[in-house]
Amino acid sequence: MQTDDKRLSACRCASGNKEGQCQESHDPLPLINRRRFLAVASGCVISAAGSASGATAGGGGANGASTGGLPPVDIGPLKNFDKDGISEEFIQHDFFVIRYQGHLYAASTTCPHMGNTLYRDSNDDTRILCRGHESVFTAEGLAVVGPASSGLVRLGIAVNAEGHVMVNPNKQFPQDKWDDKGSCLVIEKTKS
Ligand code: FES
Repeated sequence: MQTDDKRLSACRCASGNKEGQCQESHDPLPLINRRRFLAVASGCVISAAGSASGATAGGGGANGASTGGLPPVDIGPLKNFDKDGISEEFIQHDFFVIRYQGHLYAASTTCPHMGNTLYRDSNDDTRILCRGHESVFTAEGLAVVGPASSGLVRLGIAVNAEGHVMVNPNKQFPQDKWDDKGSCLVIEKTKS
């Protein structure tokens, strides 16, 4: 897949934060390698790069609620996630993989309203819909239409020592925990 070197200027993953209003620090990072992704630290992020030292499967010490004993799911190399979008590739594991403005996260397919199954809108692949009461969620995970009063539940996400992204369904982050460590990765493409 094609990539473009760029930097993130503001965090948009926090609940209710608008661009430029994030409470977290996002100082520019040193330039390292062209075409290489770097997961940068922020309030909701595990710092991880190619070697991903310190990144472990399942959230790497995340604060999300633990819900059981499901094994972490390997969703592939971090470098694969070079484009924004909502993926249903791992829907059999009951989560979407979503990259939104450089933020990579896994979102449960269970609606935060009353637990019905969510699906990607076939008419607008930037939205997620609920079969239950027709709530609509943005790619950022926010509930924008319908009775759901909170956004998508994120799952633990981390990069392992091999540079693969691991999703831990046992760690769950409702919207008020989106800023917690392990709820998402911020991917930045760097220049050499
Ligand atoms: S269960 Fe999803 S909107 Fe009610």
